[in-house]
Amino acid sequence: MAETVFAPWDDPSEKPLIRFRNVTKRFGDFTAIDDLTLDIFEKEFFALLGPSGCGKTTMMRMLAGFEDPTSGAIELAGQNIAGVPANKRAVNMMFQSYALFPHLSVWDNIAFGLRRESSDKTAIAARVDEMLKLTRLEKFARRKPHQISGGQRQRVALARSLAKAPKLLLLDEPLGALDAKLREATQFELMDIQEKTGTTFVIVTHDQEEAMTVASRVAVMDEGRVMQVDTPQQIYEAPRSAYVADFIGDVTLIEGKASARVSQVAPEAVETDVAAIAAHLPRSAQPNALGMWLHDKVLAPVIGPRVEPVLQLPAPDESEKASSADTPDAGIDIAWAEGQPPLIAIDADPALDGQTVKLALRPEKVAISKTKPDAVNVLRGKVIDIAYLGNLSTYHVELENGAMIKAQMANTRRVSRRDIVWEDAVWVSWTGTAGVVLAS
Ligand SMILES: Nc1ncnc2c1ncn2[C@@H]1O[C@H](COP(=O)(O)OP(=O)(O)O)[C@@H](O)[C@H]1O
Ligand SMILES: [Mg+2]
Repeated sequence: MAETVFAPWDDPSEKPLIRFRNVTKRFGDFTAIDDLTLDIFEKEFFALLGPSGCGKTTMMRMLAGFEDPTSGAIELAGQNIAGVPANKRAVNMMFQSYALFPHLSVWDNIAFGLRRESSDKTAIAARVDEMLKLTRLEKFARRKPHQISGGQRQRVALARSLAKAPKLLLLDEPLGALDAKLREATQFELMDIQEKTGTTFVIVTHDQEEAMTVASRVAVMDEGRVMQVDTPQQIYEAPRSAYVADFIGDVTLIEGKASARVSQVAPEAVETDVAAIAAHLPRSAQPNALGMWLHDKVLAPVIGPRVEPVLQLPAPDESEKASSADTPDAGIDIAWAEGQPPLIAIDADPALDGQTVKLALRPEKVAISKTKPDAVNVLRGKVIDIAYLGNLSTYHVELENGAMIKAQMANTRRVSRRDIVWEDAVWVSWTGTAGVVLAS
């Protein structure tokens, strides 16, 4: 059987497990969450990502039942959870500072919540053992929290949170206390446990790499609002705003004015007489609005609806050809600096014509070389700084007009990084589809 991709958010018949509907939360006259609408699906590993103070913990506290929205509604499995007390929700929350009971063993810490709800000792023991196994803590069952490492304590807290088999586990910066190496290992462990238990996880983090590693989808937040919700790949490859592009990973943003590289009318299937007329028209991106209006009002009742005219443009003159050699006539040009060639984005929407846009370029999509490459976008510059990252090097290149751009190259050969050094005159280049054009 073909493996199906896990993407319930793309399936209109799927019902979300969690729904924020126009949720606003105010503290006095301060708006912490601002008209937020968001769906989270069962079995998702969902990450809330954003700078400190953007409202992540407030969202989690509302989900857990420690706060109520000022307006709007939160639904869990189709039911409004307002008024359902925290201990009656099928939700468990693990906080940034997970406090284990210091005088209880690992085993008793995990059993604690179960004992409060049931007196079936055999069932409790079986469940605790299962949790110990899941979090690979069997060997430490009898130890006290101070007799195990930070990473192990974190796993005890996780085991304790999962013991009651919550539908939803909320993790608020759960790995904040761990060092980088342990953090990474624990991220993979979390993913593994999440997959094995099928529990829906919502994790809060301010660490973009962590969110990108663990999550099925990421919500990027800013000042109480969700800026974008998408898969990690979409967030990275197709950010919808300069904020998101800049927040996730490294990016160079170049602002400029867009102009359509072609008419917005399809060039194929031209009727000869239309073409003949069009050849005498000024090169215009839009069909003649007055003509269409006249047709619709006056002619349509008689001769029927208008067939969308397909205009053929006159051939570009020599100067236009020179600026776009070998490049398909599609997308937009971005005029960004006096005396510099326009930047070409062939997959951008020509309807951006006339608007100010930002071109977002990931460093790994920008090549750097000492000889002039054959590419759609080629600019001259000087190397100002090189960050050697082992497998990669990032070059900070100052362009002729003073703008900075980052280019990244894999260090496949050990000598290759000696090719380009500080102060070198270089070319940076990228393809017509490497950048993401953002309307600002
Ligand atoms: N109980 C409260 N009273 C007043 N302001 C609060 C309260 N809780 C949170 N805030 C404010 O709401 C904003 C969002 O807080 P929080 O959700 O904790 O942010 P995050 O977890 O993203 O860092 C912050 O400016 C914070 O100061
Ligand atoms: Mg917080």
